[in-house]
Order: sequence, then structure tokens, then C-alpha cells
Amino acid sequence: MKFRSSLFLLPLAVLALKNSAKAQSVIIPIETANNALVLEANNNHDVNTVYFGPKLADSKEYNHIAPAVGKDNDYTGQMASVYTPAGSRNLLEPAIAVTHADGNQSLDLKYVSHKVDKVSDDVSLLTLVLKDNVYNTEVTLYYKSYFKDDVIEQWSTIRNGEKGTLVLNKFASANLYLKAGSFYLTQYHGDWAKEMRPETSQLTHGIKTLDSKLGTRADLFQPPVFMVSMDKPATEDEGTVMYGSIEWSGNYRTDLELDPENNLRVISGINNYASAYQLKAGESFTTPPFLSVLSRNGKGDASRKLQHWARNYKLLDGNGNRLTLLNNWESTYFDFDETKLAALLKDTKKLGVDMFLLDDGWFGNKYPRNGDHSGLGDWQETKTKLPNGIASLVKGATDNGVKFGIWVEPEMVNPKSELYEKHPDWVIKQPKRDEYYFRNQLVLDLANPAVQDFVFGILDGLFTKNPDLAYIKWDCNAVIYNAYSAYLKKDQSQFYVDYMRGLYKVLSRIRAKYPKVPMMLCSGGGGRVDYNALQYFTEFWPSDNTDPLERVFIQWEYSYFYPAISSSNHVTDWSKLPVKYRVDVASMGKLGFDIVISKLPENDLKFVQDAVKNFNGFKDIVWHGDQYRLLDPRENPVASVAYVNEAKTSAVMFNYLVNYRYDEGSKAPIRLKGLDPAKQYKIKETNLYPGTKSGINENQIYSGDFLMKIGINPHVNSGRSSVVLMIEAV
Ligand code: DGJ
Repeated sequence: MKFRSSLFLLPLAVLALKNSAKAQSVIIPIETANNALVLEANNNHDVNTVYFGPKLADSKEYNHIAPAVGKDNDYTGQMASVYTPAGSRNLLEPAIAVTHADGNQSLDLKYVSHKVDKVSDDVSLLTLVLKDNVYNTEVTLYYKSYFKDDVIEQWSTIRNGEKGTLVLNKFASANLYLKAGSFYLTQYHGDWAKEMRPETSQLTHGIKTLDSKLGTRADLFQPPVFMVSMDKPATEDEGTVMYGSIEWSGNYRTDLELDPENNLRVISGINNYASAYQLKAGESFTTPPFLSVLSRNGKGDASRKLQHWARNYKLLDGNGNRLTLLNNWESTYFDFDETKLAALLKDTKKLGVDMFLLDDGWFGNKYPRNGDHSGLGDWQETKTKLPNGIASLVKGATDNGVKFGIWVEPEMVNPKSELYEKHPDWVIKQPKRDEYYFRNQLVLDLANPAVQDFVFGILDGLFTKNPDLAYIKWDCNAVIYNAYSAYLKKDQSQFYVDYMRGLYKVLSRIRAKYPKVPMMLCSGGGGRVDYNALQYFTEFWPSDNTDPLERVFIQWEYSYFYPAISSSNHVTDWSKLPVKYRVDVASMGKLGFDIVISKLPENDLKFVQDAVKNFNGFKDIVWHGDQYRLLDPRENPVASVAYVNEAKTSAVMFNYLVNYRYDEGSKAPIRLKGLDPAKQYKIKETNLYPGTKSGINENQIYSGDFLMKIGINPHVNSGRSSVVLMIEAV
């Protein structure tokens, strides 16, 4: 803890200073490898952010930041607040807004104490306690810093120390304050099969809000991830950029407010839309974390830090292995039986992947799931389709030397189901209004503990009956319309929050009992991905759009925020592009197939079998290495991405034609990144289609220096639309 007696002079702060001449300010720096976030509890006991940028060589000098830069005309002394309270002297967007038991809506939060705990060599946790001097409301802010990766997670706990109920009208996780000449926001929008479309614009004064009100899955329209570049839009390797995201799978809200002093206030948390939360006397509310990573070396560096952090600290089994698979969704849809599946199990083995994944359509008897209008909720095998049950399929897989995984969509119900007939009160719907469907289905009320037990029971039942079940694809295909919980009765404004908390409770119970089994977080349309959910899942489904040309773009954008090991990429027949292009694109992540193996022409079959073997040879580099984006498909006719292992001894470089106009291709060498300049490397083309030869000279030795300054031309053109190169140190 460091003390400083002078502080930057603000009109109101001066008054306060006079009134408490003895008070001293407290400087609280949060340092990571390259950055410092510096907070200051000033003489008025307000806690403000005084700095977020490159860390100083001498930490004592953080004391001098505020007087050096704090010439702003901030009438309130709160523009830079670490957690802006509403209703007292604040004039801007608050982080917290409450209604006290007596109906009063004011709050002012003053510094009480702080402490820093070292969680490990890499991780520290700052706990900062603030309190209102008039009302017994306490807020504890947490800053968990991950030193090596320059990542900070922030969240808050709000405690109601009053005798009556405190209503939380807004309850953000983080309230950041950035200083720069100008700010450029990169945000994402989308819809089914059009996920992760980026838009970059300069932020102007006022508030830009990113949010979701979809209830179950934010990503359909607007994923919670974003980037803020400072002074100019960051490029792949240059510029200052902060990535941010709330770790919450439901409704979120991020306000980016360029304030009157030209500084950027970033306030992010659960969306308070229709969600005023009641805290009874003595109760606390803890928000989900908001994460940020700050880099001065461009978007690539920020993404490698975030991916590294995710593999080490968030994503389930982030440094582990994954199963390659054959999925039957696009080859059979709902139309299968034991005979068809027996053939697919053989195809799985023939293809050489680890597992067969049985998709939607295996359940429901009174209302069999033969289409998407019926059966959701009735998780018993359809006797007419699968008379011998899942157990015999698991056995069949084992007999074929492959593993078996299964699809579920446990949060959902079709109105045409026994579950709906038995438990209409478990279904989210307005009691006095017509039902309204998304994909002919409704969402179950996970705010209700009985529904939580039911959903847990679906998974628990499957695992108990089939201990060898190796994988779960957990789907979520509906948003929440007509939000209303029969269970919550008069407390409807708790619904959106309690739904998500209910889901997390179920997932924690599943993970407590089945810690290791890989699970895919799936949602047809928009994916459903954030770092709260990814604690429970090993991978996510980026999009139903598996056209590889589209996927080059979709995976490119997701990769800024999520590591390749978490990206489930399936080869399908969605596109007319050659099977090689499809497999190469899907190999930049967790490779899977959803094609009819038995119908593949001989050379295609030979190609995919070899490609699976090749993938097994380089998957460690893709899954656990560092990703470097070399050529941006939005700016070039060729997209190029490389993954480099930690020792810089092996790399794999993927190159794709993305512009099919006449004579387009890679006309010049593409410069690599992330290699060791002093090492010597050989380059070999892999995933060659049977009967084709590579023009790449395998015997030529290049230094890393050469490859990073001059590069290598993969000779991508319309005849070689996809080229994968292995780069090995000699
Ligand atoms: C949506 C998923 O994205 C698909 O892969 C498939 O599992 C269907 N749901 C099944 O209904």
C-alpha cells in the first residue's frame, strides 16, 4: 500500500479535501507482465481508476500519475470511478443502481479496505471493499490478474446490510476507464449461419451499448466479445487494443461511454433489462466475471494471450486431448435405425476417427422425435428405432474399436411431448398469452430446482446406464420468448438471472460427478460460447454453417477470442468445394466429419483417411501451440494462418483461396511469424490429394529469419485452392 498526500484537483474533491485535511490517498496498482491498472482511493475516499496502460519500471511512480494527468474538469469526481454508483452526484452511466428498503435510490461508495492475495506464482487477487456511509450497502470488487497473459478478471459482490430488501436495478461486473486520443470498437453481429461478422467504428461521445435479451444464447445476434483499439484501429501486429467479454451465457450488457472528458468508460455485466434483483436483508449478490486483455502489439498478440489464458485457466481440459469424430446429423437427420447406425459405426472405424456421435432423433415414444416438432423432453430411446437401446450402440461402438457419444438438448421441450403434458408448469411461457415457438420448441424453467434436478437427471441417467459413454453434444436451439417462470411467481424480475444460475448449477453438478467427459457446447445458430460456460465444456460449435469458405471467415473471427482446441469444426456436404478444402479448414481446430463415408469416391475416401492420420500428427501444434494470422481473408485473395508449437520447432501453415476470380492466388511469398530466427527449417506439403504432387521443395532448408522476413509461397491458385504446409526444424 502506498500513500500520497496530494491529488489531482477537481472542484468537488477540493472541497472534500478541505473537510478532511488528514485523509491520505491510497494507490492500488494491479500489475501484469506488461501492464498496470492503477486505482486510487483519494482523499475523499472515492476510488477511481487513474491509469490502465504499460506498467512503469518503478512502481513508486504510480503515485505521480494522477497529478500528472488529472487536469480534467470532472464536476463529480466520479467519472473515473471503479464502480460508479447511481443516485448521488454521478452524472454518467452507473455501474450500480439500487433502491433501498425505504425507497431511496441513492448510493455513494467509499473506500474501506483492500488486500492482495497471491493465488499462485502467476495469479493474484485484489479484494477492494467499498461502503455507503449512509445506507448499509457494501460492495466488494475483485480483480484477479493473470500475470503472464496480461489478463484481468473483475467481478463484484453486493451485500445488503439493511433490515429490508435492497433492489438491484443495475449490477455491473466491471467499470473500466481508458484514456486515449480516440477509440475504435470492433463488435460482432450475426444470425443463424452468419455468425461473427465484425464491424469496426470510431466511438463518438455518448453511449454505445452491446447487449443481448435472448435469454439462453447471446451469440445469435450479438456475441459478448469485443475489442477496443486505442488511438487508431489496431492491426494484427501493431496498435494498442483491449479485448473484453462478460463471462455470462445469458442476457448481458456492455456500455461503452465516451465521456465529456474524452475518456472511455466500459461498464459491463449481466443485462439489467427486466431484471431488477431483490436482495433480502443480509443477502449478497455476486456478479459473473468480466475479462479483459490489453496488448500494445496488435490483435494477434492479444489473441494469443487470451487463448493461452483460456487453455490454462478456463476451458475445461484446455491443455488436454480431444476426440475426432463422425457425426450422423447431416447424413441421416432424424431418419435412422439400428441397421443404419451399425453401418455408420463401421464407417467411423474405416475413416480412422476416435468416435461416433449419434445426433438428434434417438428419443421419444408417445411422440417420437422423427422431426423437430415432437419428442424434446422425453429422453427415452425410441423403441421402434432403437429396440436395443443406447447400451447396444455403445457396445457396438466398442466392438468396432471406436467410442460413442450422444446428442442432447436438455433445456428444451416440444409442446408435443409427454414432458409438456406432465409438467406444463416447468415450461417458460406466459400464463395468459399464446405460446410462441423458436424451432417448434420452448425452454424449460431452470430457475425451478425441480427442473434443475430433471436436467441433471437426463445426463446422470445416460452416464449411469452407459458408463462407457464418451462424449456429449449439448445443444440449445431456442431463445426465450414470453419470459415467465411459474416457479418464481411474483419475483419475475429474477427470472433471467435465475435461469442462468440454474443452468450453471446443473453444469457444476454434472462436472462434480463427471469431471472429465468431453462435452460440446452447441447451438444451431450463433454458437453459444462464453468463458463462463466453457468452464464446463471442452469445445463449442461455432456455426451450423460448415461451408469451408464461410468457415475461413467465421473461425478467423472466433479465434481472436477462443483457442483452436475449443472449436468444433465438422466436414460436411454443405459446400461444393473439394473435400480437401473442407478437411483442411476443419483441421484448424477439433476435426470432425458429418458426411456419408460410404458414398465417397475412392480418392476422396483415401484422402480423408490420410488426412485424419496427418491431423493426428499435427493436432498438438494446432491445439496447444500459438496461432499466427498471416493473411486476412477480408483483405487478400488468400487466407493464411499458422500454428507454432511452444518450442518453435514445428509449425503448420494453412492457406486457402478465398477469391475465385480469374487468376487469383498467392502471387508472393507469405511471411511466417512466431518461428525462431536462428533455427533452420524444412517445409513439406501435407494433406495432398491422391495423385497430386507438391511444387514445394522439401529439401530446401530455410532459416526462421528468412521465413519471417521473406516467407514462402504456398502457390495457392484455383487448381490448388487449399494448401497445408508442415514446417519442421532440422
Ligand atoms: C443444431 C445443431 O447445430 C446441429 O448440429 C444438430 O445437432 C441439430 N441441432 C439437431 O437438431
